[in-house]
Amino acid sequence: MKPVRSVVAGIAAVLMALVLLGSSPQADAHNITRILAKHPEYSTFNHYLTLTHLAVEINRRLTITVLAVDNSAMSDLLAKHLSLGTIKNVLSLHILVDYFGAKKLHQLTDRTTSTSTLFQASGAAPGTAGYVNITDLKGGKVAFGSTETGDLNAMFVKSVDERPYNISVLQISQVLTSPEAEAPTAAPSDLNLTAILTKQGCKAFADLITSSGAGHTFQENIDGGLTVFCPPDSVVNAFMPKYKNLTAAQKASLILYHGVPVYQSLQGMKSSNGVMNTLATDGANKYDFTIQNDGEEVTLKTKVTTATITGTVIDQDPLIVFKVDKVLQPRELFKASEAEEAEAPAPKATKKKKKSTDDSDAEADSPDAYSPDGEPSDLTEEDKDGAAGLVAGGRLLAGVVLSLCLSVAML
Ligand SMILES: *[C@@H]1O[C@H](CO)[C@@H](O)[C@H](O)[C@H]1NC(C)=O
Ligand SMILES: *[C@@H]1O[C@H](CO)[C@@H](O)[C@H](O)[C@H]1NC(C)=O
Ligand SMILES: *[C@@H]1O[C@H](CO)[C@@H](O)[C@H](O)[C@H]1NC(C)=O
Ligand SMILES: *[C@@H]1O[C@H](CO)[C@@H](O)[C@H](O)[C@H]1NC(C)=O
Ligand SMILES: *[C@@H]1O[C@H](CO)[C@@H](O)[C@H](O)[C@H]1NC(C)=O
Repeated sequence: MKPVRSVVAGIAAVLMALVLLGSSPQADAHNITRILAKHPEYSTFNHYLTLTHLAVEINRRLTITVLAVDNSAMSDLLAKHLSLGTIKNVLSLHILVDYFGAKKLHQLTDRTTSTSTLFQASGAAPGTAGYVNITDLKGGKVAFGSTETGDLNAMFVKSVDERPYNISVLQISQVLTSPEAEAPTAAPSDLNLTAILTKQGCKAFADLITSSGAGHTFQENIDGGLTVFCPPDSVVNAFMPKYKNLTAAQKASLILYHGVPVYQSLQGMKSSNGVMNTLATDGANKYDFTIQNDGEEVTLKTKVTTATITGTVIDQDPLIVFKVDKVLQPRELFKASEAEEAEAPAPKATKKKKKSTDDSDAEADSPDAYSPDGEPSDLTEEDKDGAAGLVAGGRLLAGVVLSLCLSVAML
């Protein structure tokens, strides 16, 4: 029932503005970009939170403190001519994964504490380099510094915005000095995707990237941002009979289907459901899939397969690689279930049931759907944004929002 789909796409395009106004999943959450936009003295800091994608991480966190610095302190940092990846590490040291209002700074047990940051959470911080020491000095001053260096080089200036206990934005006098955070990160062009995959338990998939001739396309997309989904060796090996059946061009498309030409963090994916274009997308050949969240779980739904993200292989902005539990099978190459073609609205009251772990696990919206291999599908949708009544499935609309965000991000 393809016409339904194209009508939906058409309506969705028309309703884009409405959706943007109405059903953002983040509508009630904080938005650091917007908070800082009210204070032009932090515009450089704000700009770099966006460039480094840290803004997305901050918005996703429910309890967070941002140590902002003004434009002159930021120019001292920029004068060091660090790479964007390094600046990200430095700024992530300024994002405390706990809530500190101005008042709490003066109520610390023993007048000092060491608190974890997004630099720690990134996994890039050795030792205690990802912790910030806050010390309430005599005379009412509060000092901040990297716990690793013990050098309390920055002073609390003022509270910028406090929303207990969601987000607190405090100004500090200087960028926190940290040799570990300022250590050079690999330049994007130095990242060798197939070498990384091979080292991280995705050798079979890396070999297919090379043998299919798709390696060059993956590699040249890294600079501009690239998200790769890699099934583990056992899954790839089990898929080989099907893979061998494809023509050379189809093989390349299947492999390219596992790459998305934008850096998309896990937090970013958790905060938005939607349609993703891939490296295989080419005009009439859509080769897209839908990201769908259910609590902490992120799934990738093609019309044939539903794969779950099971881990992060590498997160080195602009390259991020996730491990998925299945080979993503595009409808352009593999038979889709008829229920999926129908794109029927989900029964709203039905709770999502336990997911099948079988490779042939087909997505389906209606209870009587069947998968290509005759296995009854047990997946139903639980509408989260209430937009499902509008057109066939709120996630399609949400998808338009994400696609829009992606196209903006790719500019
Ligand atoms: C946050 O606010 C900025 C500026 O108003 C806006 O461009 C951006 O889309 C917002 N982000 C979210 C997730 O709502
Ligand atoms: C923070 O640093 C100060 C000065 O180096 C030190 O005295 C204090 O013990 C540190 N606090 C913590 C919690 O590590
Ligand atoms: C904190 O976040 C929750 C959930 O998003 C919201 O209901 C609450 O109003 C927020 N509190 C403040 C002070 O912004
Ligand atoms: C990446 O590493 C592999 C060996 O793992 C090598 O064969 C290939 O030439 C490298 N590619 C680039 C672009 O450096
Ligand atoms: C390979 O293709 C043939 C012909 O289309 C089909 O009969 C066979 O089932 C396929 N094998 C696999 C493993 O998909």
